[in-house]
Amino acid sequence: MHPLTHKYIPKTTMEVLGQENVVKQLRDFIINFKKQKKKSALIYGPSGVGKTSSVYAIANELDYEVIEVNASNFRNAEQINFKVGNAIKQQSLFARGKIILVDEIDGLSGHEDRGGVQAIVKLIGDSAYPIILTATNPFDNKFSSLRSKSNLMEFSQLDYLSIFRILKRICGHEKIRHEDEVLKALSRRAGGDARSAINDLQSLAQEKKELAKESLEELSERNKTENIMTALNKIFKTTDLKIAISAFDNVREDLDEQLLWIDENLPKEYTKPQELAKAYEMLSKADVFSRRIKRWQHYRFLVYINALITAGIASAKNEKYKNFVQYKPTGRILKLWWASQRNAKKKEIAGKIAEKTHSSKKEILKSTMPYLPIMFRNKEMRNGIINYLDLNEEEIEWLAKAK
Ligand SMILES: Nc1ncnc2c1ncn2[C@@H]1O[C@H](COP(=O)(O)OP(=O)(O)OP(=O)(O)O)[C@@H](O)[C@H]1O
Ligand SMILES: [Mg+2]
Repeated sequence: MHPLTHKYIPKTTMEVLGQENVVKQLRDFIINFKKQKKKSALIYGPSGVGKTSSVYAIANELDYEVIEVNASNFRNAEQINFKVGNAIKQQSLFARGKIILVDEIDGLSGHEDRGGVQAIVKLIGDSAYPIILTATNPFDNKFSSLRSKSNLMEFSQLDYLSIFRILKRICGHEKIRHEDEVLKALSRRAGGDARSAINDLQSLAQEKKELAKESLEELSERNKTENIMTALNKIFKTTDLKIAISAFDNVREDLDEQLLWIDENLPKEYTKPQELAKAYEMLSKADVFSRRIKRWQHYRFLVYINALITAGIASAKNEKYKNFVQYKPTGRILKLWWASQRNAKKKEIAGKIAEKTHSSKKEILKSTMPYLPIMFRNKEMRNGIINYLDLNEEEIEWLAKAK
């Protein structure tokens, strides 16, 4: 399946919506290149608003050739020269015009890529053709030399009606049935990013050729999942407790879900057994607290839970694991595991009784355990049992809740 974002790349400037002024500015810069003092344009703005597309649309209209240089592939001037080389030298008067596009200079990291920035500065000095740089954040210090050599042009976030028009056009060509209201809702939630709006449309509607109202809910479900994945990433990948502790701040998922998500994904991330064990200790403490909240409405425990499952888990590792882990939603298997954890408490208690009474654990599980919770409800017996078996808090908790 081909991405619709490719299929519907604007072919002319008319098709670049919502950026009329800046596109005209860029076009004028290219047409009047010979008269420019500054030989490059630095176009910037958020992702998916038409920066790269505009360059190609303009080139297309003017029948210019675009020579694209991916900034992050270059460490120094030699490498750029190797790629662009003769292309930047003036050829015959009648040769086809050219635009040198250095896309996404954000990719150059400040320190080790200083050579890369210098190489681009040199390129601007040498080139007989317009150089266009694109960036999402051009105000980083490392770009100061590029800023002073360039005409700055800002692409802004798209308003939702522009996005709506983009989607509407695609729906027309693709014959996707839809209601305008739903399409507008989809446009609004894209946050001004046409690329992500088109991708959403494709994933929700292309197969059935229909954008159903319900599919928006699916999308918000998906956003929720993405949020929680980001939160997990924060907790698992940082050793900075300040960063970890705020991980769930923007997550709306309820606490049980958070615990399940961590539980499901923790072992994929923490592969050193000791660190994993430490992290699980935090998680199981959080689980105990959460059950107390449910039974006794001790909501003040919430802060402990949050601390345990964020900073607590983050601090269980000495250094971050470098491998990439694809976090997964919780599944049925996980719930079974959770149940077996609860079962584990039962076995633990049975083990204690077996020891005291010199019988087998298996026997106790069958004969005594079914009645123990009932006895436990009687206050006097309860204290007797707790003392006799020397039960810890978690075991008491389990027994009080068991039926
Ligand atoms: N203003 C727009 N008008 C029409 N289509 C657009 C517009 N902006 C983006 N698109 C669509 O979104 C896709 C991505 O746009 P583009 O590559 O130009 O974004 P960008 O601003 O360069 O983003 P990035 O910073 O992530 O590179 C295009 O292929 C096009 O389909
Ligand atoms: Mg781009």
